[in-house]
Amino acid sequence: MNSKKYYIETYGCQMNEADSEIMAGLLERVNYTSTYLPEEADIILVNTCSVRQGADNRAIARLSQFKHLKKQNPDLLLGLVGCVAQRDKGKILEEKPFIDLVLGPDTYRQIPELLNKQELPFVDVHLSKQEVYDGLTPFRNTRVNAWVSIMRGCDKFCSYCIVPFTRGRERSRSVKSIVEEVRQAVSGGYIEVTLLGQNVNSYCYEENRFPDLLLTVAEIPGVKRIRFTSPHPEDVDEAMLEVMHEHENICKHIHLPLQAGSTKILKSMNRTYTQEEYLNLVDKIRKYMPGCGITTDIIVGFPGETQDDFNDTLYVMDQVVFDNAYMFKYSPRPNTSAAKLPDDVLGKEKSERLNAVIEKQKVHTLQKNKALIGTVQSILVDGVSKKDSNEKIGRTDTNKLVILKEGNADIGNIINVQIIDAAGVSLFGKIQ
Ligand code: 5AD
Ligand code: SF4
Repeated sequence: MNSKKYYIETYGCQMNEADSEIMAGLLERVNYTSTYLPEEADIILVNTCSVRQGADNRAIARLSQFKHLKKQNPDLLLGLVGCVAQRDKGKILEEKPFIDLVLGPDTYRQIPELLNKQELPFVDVHLSKQEVYDGLTPFRNTRVNAWVSIMRGCDKFCSYCIVPFTRGRERSRSVKSIVEEVRQAVSGGYIEVTLLGQNVNSYCYEENRFPDLLLTVAEIPGVKRIRFTSPHPEDVDEAMLEVMHEHENICKHIHLPLQAGSTKILKSMNRTYTQEEYLNLVDKIRKYMPGCGITTDIIVGFPGETQDDFNDTLYVMDQVVFDNAYMFKYSPRPNTSAAKLPDDVLGKEKSERLNAVIEKQKVHTLQKNKALIGTVQSILVDGVSKKDSNEKIGRTDTNKLVILKEGNADIGNIINVQIIDAAGVSLFGKIQ
């Protein structure tokens, strides 16, 4: 008998990747198997992101493309899940009546029961104060790195951000269940784990805070590399830096979202730090770990951002020299407090500012990467190059991409390579 098949497409952050693996795990438990071909599937789930306008339009358009598959398979279930589902709730059905399931990020546990449901469409977007998907086994989609979600939700309410509305309140998973999941991942052959949370370092379970958890995970036998994302600058403390410094298996990379360089704009964004505090924090990180990779997120064109304010963003970039950055034009999101402010930076101005930060970052990334030419780096080989399948790729401890031009390297191994060149965001390495 052919088993039923599921197809999941994921947009947005790593947290969504991890959630998709949880949904896959639930479906595998009831003997559904994964397919890469939507036309073969009995259930299609599109896991969506609503953080910026662009991503949510794309995901809804994608789901609409699957509508015609119902002609061949009238029992096909089409599900809109994740942050766009949470935001649009049942309203989306007025426009897209062919959708069968609308599930928010906290309601995935019931997916197996919905497979044979007669009364459709089914909508459940309640946000939970407790759900952390404990006790479920994710069906992993990766070979080398295991995503491990340690907390969900966000209580920070940055004024531009929809996440606190689509993912609800912060809640942390127990240390015991995180340790169990990491142990299972290690016995399944994963040597790198990435601890995930919308606000990963505000983790707090009973008396365990983020640095305590990091230490516990670092001491689990077999964990060769630990990463975490995304921290909030406000919650980066000395204890966290101390644990990172003392454990070789905790990767020396911190993604430290700046968002804006002007203290006035940071205040209006409700970011809880000033330009000076951010720069001091970067100094502190570099005191503990001089070579630590520091990457960031930047928003340009936030309401009220003058040319002087924008110059402050360029100033902070010059001071820090980030290893890499994700850069965005401000996009007003429903429910957020910034959406009530006039979106007063003209489109043309936003584009020019975005280009300016992108250009600056290109120069900085190359400068940082060129400084590594001639050094020997330890990399975890994690895949093959998209451009040439004979070339393997890996990541340094500081999360830089290294392309191996020659030599044999096995995926999943940590090896020493000499950096021989740098171009764009990539380094080129030769096996030692
Ligand atoms: N407009 C533009 N960028 C945004 N981000 C979050 N909300 C918005 C928005 N409304 C960016 C932030 C965040 C990253 C995940 O997405 O930089 O850190
Ligand atoms: Fe959004 Fe701010 Fe929470 Fe990050 S910390 S998810 S930017 S509200």
